[in-house]
Order: sequence, then structure tokens, then C-alpha cells
Amino acid sequence: MPYKYTGQMQEAITQELEQQYNPEQITERRKKAGHTTIPQKRIYQFVYQNKSNGEKMNKKLVDELKSFEVLWKGGYFGGDPLNPMAKSDYGQLGFMSVLYATYLRCIKPYINNNTVSLEIGPGRGAWTKALLPSKEVYALDALPEEHNQFFKYLGYPKNVKYFQVKDFKCEMLQDSYFDYTFSFGCLCHVSFEGITEYAVNIYPKLKQCGNCFWMVADYNKFNSASLNLNSLSVWNALPRRYQLPLKWLLFLLYRDERKKPPLKADENDPGPGRWYHAGIDKTCSMLEKVGYKVIDADVGTNFRDPIIHFIKP
Ligand SMILES: C[S@@+](CC[C@H](N)C(=O)[O-])C[C@H]1O[C@@H](n2cnc3c(N)ncnc32)[C@H](O)[C@@H]1O
Repeated sequence: MPYKYTGQMQEAITQELEQQYNPEQITERRKKAGHTTIPQKRIYQFVYQNKSNGEKMNKKLVDELKSFEVLWKGGYFGGDPLNPMAKSDYGQLGFMSVLYATYLRCIKPYINNNTVSLEIGPGRGAWTKALLPSKEVYALDALPEEHNQFFKYLGYPKNVKYFQVKDFKCEMLQDSYFDYTFSFGCLCHVSFEGITEYAVNIYPKLKQCGNCFWMVADYNKFNSASLNLNSLSVWNALPRRYQLPLKWLLFLLYRDERKKPPLKADENDPGPGRWYHAGIDKTCSMLEKVGYKVIDADVGTNFRDPIIHFIKP
């Protein structure tokens, strides 16, 4: 319904302003605060000046709302927020990196200068950098620090401790000490037994309500992303006239990739750097058996790999 600036409304606004700038109340408030009384004339000057400014402002705001009457017949629609690949009126600014979205969803809201954080498998420290606002960061990696050039990349921060792990016992970590754990791109290289060991041994190290975000490998999610490459690919965001030639180019470039069979969830054939299928459901049920509460089985910021959000209840 069109919004009308009626006389009734004007009256209501005036009444509200009079209440807001009631001279007696102002005198009373000033007395209570220990100020000397201001002459009534000055108060009235103040009240009426503000009242007329207020009226002007309210008229301006009402007109502002009225100005929309001519716009967007049928309802404004800028794009579908439930479709991760939706084109929107943001055009070429309408997409963001999976890594950055993961940072926004899984790290930024949980980290501040009181947080004690733990990262499993930091590598060079790309994600550790995002954890630096923490009070302390503990990083556990299978490789030595010098190999990863971890501190060099981070600029030698004083609040970070690095440990090369030889087992999954986590004995270097204090009990009930950590508020937050994060792992990305590491547990997909760890067997399900290894992930379970970490889940069991890290549990007592966490404070109550400690948040954990762990990425694991799920071959079903991986295979489904590979099969749906056409709809999930960033190239679809390009204007139509560039899409066709590019699709042909990509088809030729990735011809061999497409011929690869889907990943099979077998646990045999261990090899350095290989991926291990953990699976969303299997990992969540393992976490719950250990005593954690799963908050989100997959936060969904990554088309290919699940990131599980769970807490120590
Ligand atoms: C592919 S890198 C990912 C590094 C980093 N998280 C990133 O996303 O940039 C995997 C890292 O996990 C480490 N890693 C492998 N198995 C591990 C384990 N059981 N415990 C801790 N770190 C491990 C590797 O040494 C390596 O640094």
C-alpha cells in the first residue's frame, strides 16, 4: 500500500517530539546531574529549534520512503542467496574464494585475543596466519618446522608454538586449555584410525564449549563435485559470449582428467600424501561416540570437501 504522509501522522510526530524535548524534564535532569538551572527562555529556544529540525527530518524520512513507490514492480530480485553459483547484480564482484569464505565462516567469528587455538597440519602456515589474532596458537605438523618454513612465512610471531608430531598422542598439549581447533587440507591425508586418535586425544585438551572445525575427505562429495563440474565451475559466472569458447578450451585441457574413474573409498594401498576417505556420516558418528556434539556436519563453504563443526559440550 502506498505510504501517505497524513495530518494524523504529523500530529503523532509533533507529540513525540514534545515528549522528547519536554522543558521540565530537561531542567529536572540537569538539576539531578548537579548542573545549575538554565534560564527557561534558553530551554524553549533549544526545544523549538530541535522540534522544527526534527519535523523537517521526519518529513525528509517519510519522503524518502515514498520515493520507492515508482520502483521495482513485481518485487526486487537481485539473485538467489540459496544457490552458491547464482549470478547476481554484483556481477563480477559476486563470487569469493572457497578459502576466504571458510575463513569468514570457521575462523573469524571464533578468534580473538583470549582464544587459545590449535591447528593440525598447518604446512607453511597459510591458515595459521588467520589464527594469529589468538592469544596463543599451537601448531602440530608431521613435518619439521624448517621443512615447512613455517615461522619464516608467518614473520616469527611470539604467540605461536610449533611441534613436529611423531604420533597422535598430543602429549605436549595441556589439559582443558584450548578454546578452538582447526584443520584444513591435513586430515584428508590421515587414515580414519589417525583421525579417531586425534579426536580422542584432543578431547581432554579442550575447554568446555571449545569449537572445532575439521576438514576431512569424503569421496562421495568429491565425486559428486567432479560430476557436477559444469554447474559448479566458476567459468559459468562469465558472460555468455565468453562461455562457449572457454568451455571448449577447458574440455580439451581436462580431457584426460575426465577419463579418470571416480575415487573409490578403499583403505588399502597406503602411500605418502595419499587421500583417505573418512566420510561425513562416519566421521560425525565417530566424533559423537568420543563425546563431541556435532553442530554442523558440513559448513558447506567448500564444494569438494566437507568441513565439520563440532564442540566439546
Ligand atoms: C597438504 S598440507 C596442508 C597444509 C595447510 N593446512 C594448508 O591447507 O595450506 C598437509 C599438511 O598436513 C601435515 N600432516 C600430515 N599428516 C599429519 C598428521 N598426522 N598430523 C599433523 N600433520 C600432518 C603435512 O605435513 C602437511 O604439512
